[in-house]
Amino acid sequence: MWVRLPPPAQIMQKRNKRIGIFDSGFGGLHVLRSIVSALPQYDYAYLGDTARAPYGDRPQETIYAYTKQAVDFLFRHECGIVVIACNTASSEALRRIQDEYGAAKKVLGVLIPAAEVAVERTTKGRIGVIATHGTVASNKFVRELTKLDPTVRVFQNACPLLVPLIESGEHGSAEMETILKRYLDPLLRKKIDTLILGCTHYGILERNIRKVVGPTVHIVSEARVVPKKLAAYFKKHGEIEATLGKRSNIHFYSTDRTDNFKILGSKLFGKKIQVKKATLR
Ligand code: DGL
Repeated sequence: MWVRLPPPAQIMQKRNKRIGIFDSGFGGLHVLRSIVSALPQYDYAYLGDTARAPYGDRPQETIYAYTKQAVDFLFRHECGIVVIACNTASSEALRRIQDEYGAAKKVLGVLIPAAEVAVERTTKGRIGVIATHGTVASNKFVRELTKLDPTVRVFQNACPLLVPLIESGEHGSAEMETILKRYLDPLLRKKIDTLILGCTHYGILERNIRKVVGPTVHIVSEARVVPKKLAAYFKKHGEIEATLGKRSNIHFYSTDRTDNFKILGSKLFGKKIQVKKATLR
């Protein structure tokens, strides 16, 4: 019996898919860096919507519309799977986008993996979450954490000053500690034993945060959680893993000035990067 084979170009394309990583800005580069160091063999495309970041204070409908455009862009640019590394976008848009794409296009978030690790780690069941206004208002972390363990108490605090400071390259400044204290003290007064850094950007501040919370609080950073969860996902879903390109290429896209992205992005990613301009619509 004759079987009609796809043309060779189609076979090639199917087996050379990239892993798409999306963030509203630069913060996801920190997560990408850890993913690439854990899974260096794959090809990646990173998109930062720097022209429209921060997302954290925007209305839900706007975050959904921007995130959808970003995910569409990544699928149009050879991605076989997309990780929304932005918690705000994961809270406000992920479920709807997953429903719209259905099983055909895989889109993953970062919130549930972080919640799973926090529930595993907590000793007294008192979990703190710092995140953007959007993520806190969505209550998504509270829902996911209590779904995993109904006995945990969750205390959240929105930290709107952190992302603009990080995006402008200010994360090492002396004022940062004062600002962090202001955001973290209310959670420490609630005697949290575990703290979720519920915004991709905050992983960049982990050392400063550790200084404020002290040595005993477990810090759950997505930069550590996501690579492990992604590796486990590929192990479980061999059919997706088999479609991924393994030439260690990384493509960077930004919606804003690429020269600016190149400078700050190279610092956050830990090596020099080349950036292409992305237009989202
Ligand atoms: N990266 C986003 C997050 O993880 C926050 C930055 C923003 O407000 O755009 O929530």
